[in-house]
Amino acid sequence: MARPRVLSGIQPTADSFHLGNYLGALRQWVTMQETYDAFYCVVDLHAITVPHDPAELRRRSRVAAAQLFAAGLDPDRCTVFVQSHVPEHAELAWVLNCLTGMGEAARMTQFKDKSAKQGENAASVGLFTYPILQAADILLYQADRVPVGADQKQHLELTRDLGQRFNHRFGETFTLPQPHILKEVEKITDLQDPSAKMSKSSSSPQGILDVLEAPGPLRKKVMRAVTDTGTEVRADDENKPGVTNLLRIQSALTGTPIPELEARYAGQGYGTFKKDVAEAVVEAFTPIRERTEKLLANETELDRMLAVGAGRAGEVARRTMAMVRDRVGFLPRA
Ligand code: TYM
Repeated sequence: MARPRVLSGIQPTADSFHLGNYLGALRQWVTMQETYDAFYCVVDLHAITVPHDPAELRRRSRVAAAQLFAAGLDPDRCTVFVQSHVPEHAELAWVLNCLTGMGEAARMTQFKDKSAKQGENAASVGLFTYPILQAADILLYQADRVPVGADQKQHLELTRDLGQRFNHRFGETFTLPQPHILKEVEKITDLQDPSAKMSKSSSSPQGILDVLEAPGPLRKKVMRAVTDTGTEVRADDENKPGVTNLLRIQSALTGTPIPELEARYAGQGYGTFKKDVAEAVVEAFTPIRERTEKLLANETELDRMLAVGAGRAGEVARRTMAMVRDRVGFLPRA
């Protein structure tokens, strides 16, 4: 039997992925390549929905792809590609744009947050239709599962709605995808503000742990992470959100259940605990940073790997798009 399909994407909008991306998404991508027919893309079309610099986008797209391979995505086990290399993403997005209500798109909370930051009228129409492009990414590959963090839930619901709407109007065409969200790591929070998610666009540099960051600054940031009053290392989202975030991080990185960590640090205060969290982060990130640097030293090879990925992705995308064009009623080109 064919393996179920998985698709996910990540934006090349920063110089490095961060711990939230890594725990919330990337680690699941690596695991899922073993049992799924997996497609992962660097979503550069999404990256231009906010003002950008072309040279920087090019550089960051390579850095993003290199980090994906460095984190353990194996080109023999999964397909890694750059979204703009497969033009069908934009083509399907157009068709889905025409199936989406203005009100429906306007309800997307990420758009509301991001546009509020830029000033309502400064935000691009691309930012407004961003989730519809994301729906196209997913539906194009007939994905069964989409590994993401909690912040993508609403976009996944829209994806299912649009897929279902198309199927009803034009006949069964798309697989309706399920989000794949791991509760324990669905929202890694900002080290300086445990009420907010760790985010490249809104966290302060002190609040965010970058995958490509050197061990020194990583350790310093963990040691300076906001903890809570008291000295007890105990998971309690309500009263100890800072400590709880660190416990989740350490548990995910070391595979040790949280109750076991609580018992280990009982009566020791925050110092030893934070030191151990810092080491766990450094241990996880160091090999990825080193492999990323190696991959970036040979751009020709990296670009070739991405071309292979685009080839494989393009085959699937063209098959779906041929069906979509026919169902929608576009005249075949003679
Ligand atoms: P992006 O690039 O913002 O983030 C990539 C992935 O990281 C997850 N994530 C987090 N998880 C837990 N805690 C955090 N603090 C945290 N911060 C980020 C995100 O949920 C995401 O899974 N719209 C998407 C990109 C995208 C996409 C797609 C995803 C485009 N097309 C198709 C899935 C399928 C985004 O902006 O991710």
